[in-house]
Amino acid sequence: MEKVYLTKLAPNCGCAAKVGPGTLAGVLCKLPKFHDEHLLVGTETSDDAAVYKISDELAMIQTLDFFTPVADDPYDFGQIAAANALSDVYAMGGEPKTALNIVAFPKEMDTEILGEILKGGADKVLEAGAVLAGGHTIQDDTPKYGLSVTGFVHPAKFWKNYGAQTGDKLILTKPLGTGIVNTAIKADLISEAREAALRSMKTLNKYAAEILKKYTVHACTDVTGFGLGGHGTEMAEGSQKTLVIDTKSLPILPDVEEYASMGLIPGGAYRNREFAGKAGYESSAELWREDLVFDPQTSGGLLAAVSAEEAEKLLAELKGLDLPCAVIGEVIDRKDYALLIR
Ligand code: CO
Ligand code: CO
Repeated sequence: MEKVYLTKLAPNCGCAAKVGPGTLAGVLCKLPKFHDEHLLVGTETSDDAAVYKISDELAMIQTLDFFTPVADDPYDFGQIAAANALSDVYAMGGEPKTALNIVAFPKEMDTEILGEILKGGADKVLEAGAVLAGGHTIQDDTPKYGLSVTGFVHPAKFWKNYGAQTGDKLILTKPLGTGIVNTAIKADLISEAREAALRSMKTLNKYAAEILKKYTVHACTDVTGFGLGGHGTEMAEGSQKTLVIDTKSLPILPDVEEYASMGLIPGGAYRNREFAGKAGYESSAELWREDLVFDPQTSGGLLAAVSAEEAEKLLAELKGLDLPCAVIGEVIDRKDYALLIR
């Protein structure tokens, strides 16, 4: 197989390639409004996936995600893109059932590379317990890969990205910093952070979701392109609460402080900061920790607002999954701003 550095082919990698939330909102608001009483979650609340009620016992979750290479190794890239796409089903408390490949691949590139990307994706779908049922491939100068995923959930028991209650603890199930680490990799700085980031991005949120289901979850989302700050803002706005983020408690990938202090911050972090600024945030944290809060994550962890009494027991169980995770803050009554970063 021809050796290609996949991440060199795209200006932005992974979820950092996402169009900013502000830009998107400006376009989406011009689309016609849809009404269907069976649509339990649509676009209004910027949730992770759509939820459509089929019967009193069953609702369908639909989501799709695809992006440019976030790893040089095609098998790694395939696994990460699939784990990231499947994640939105887990963030709703559902189970993935079917998946379809979404692929863009350069005409001149070795097709063995494509085979490895697809194998990575297929292996993750298998691990998720879902079936890969088809896909669509187009020619494009930059490789892109992802999945459209359909999952099932009980129509009365799914997790929304709002509903957080005053006094809830906030739990994050994966370390932050994938955007910063990927920026460092693009600048040819490599370290143990690379392996740690790959491992975290490849991990399915399935395992964390299975644990969360045993506890009282008031709101849940996965932390991806809009960063902890962006997705946290959406949770705060939807819940009409303020989220307190204790930056010293954040689980972090190795060497992120060094890279962030060197200014290796992906462009998406600035867009995310701007988006959060509209809902308002107050911060007394050091700059690099603030940058980390807004760092776009690829295949990031679940952010859950859980009842305070259960938080410690839940966290202890999550620690058994062997990825850095933590209680990162709490939910308070609504202030003039959505986030209090300290
Ligand atoms: Co999501
Ligand atoms: Co998504």
